[in-house]
Amino acid sequence: MDAAHVEKVYSSYSGVYDVLFGKVFHRSRCHAVELLSVKPGQEVLEVGVGTGLSLPLYPRWCRVTGIDLSDKMLEKGREKIRRHRLAHARLMRMDASAMQFDADRFDAVLAAYVMSAVPDPLRTLGEMVRVCKPGGTIVLLNHFHAKHPFGARIERWFSPLCTKIGFRSDLDLEHLLAGSGLRVTVGRKVNPFGYWTIVQCLNTKSDQAREPAARMQGVRSARRATLHA
Ligand SMILES: C[S@@+](CC[C@H](N)C(=O)[O-])C[C@H]1O[C@@H](n2cnc3c(N)ncnc32)[C@H](O)[C@@H]1O
Repeated sequence: MDAAHVEKVYSSYSGVYDVLFGKVFHRSRCHAVELLSVKPGQEVLEVGVGTGLSLPLYPRWCRVTGIDLSDKMLEKGREKIRRHRLAHARLMRMDASAMQFDADRFDAVLAAYVMSAVPDPLRTLGEMVRVCKPGGTIVLLNHFHAKHPFGARIERWFSPLCTKIGFRSDLDLEHLLAGSGLRVTVGRKVNPFGYWTIVQCLNTKSDQAREPAARMQGVRSARRATLHA
């Protein structure tokens, strides 16, 4: 998957995206936004905001910036901002793997159903960590690679087909979080079918600079989260 392919695929979904993926994932999006634990006056970033289905869920006391590669998806988001009068939200076209924001800009960062849709998940997560303040919260809502060997094999078979339609099915949470500077604080399976996982992380990036052993803590906490999810 490259950026041009992802943009083309999601632009083609923009007209039907809310009908297909709105209600069915609504509760999980609510849960993910709650786990950001946003406080009054805080700055929140949503990467891969798509058509803005999460935008009405943020408290009006924060400021939300949503970014996405697809202008057509963003246009649907802008309609929601107008319709719901979300004066605290703004949308920008930007590549999540090369963000134009300064480091430590946001208090909380959300990626809902995005990490398996981006061409470069490791770089994207690295950017999320960079723009999030030390001690800030990062929440990932995503499907991660099945642990059961049979499920994992099926997902690997389907992966090439899935990438054609805009996502990968074989993203591994431990691999993604290893060395990221994130410590998992909550990890649980969510519906539908418990196929998706919400992972709430604390951004420990400055601790990590002080103490390289903290890197291993990120790996261990990812492993625990996957085991308990
Ligand atoms: C499955 S949709 C999720 C949309 C929304 N977060 C939701 O909850 O429905 C994935 C979105 O990620 C966007 N995306 C993929 N790669 C991206 C990148 N590198 N930078 C920004 N957005 C990206 C796509 O354009 C698409 O809108």
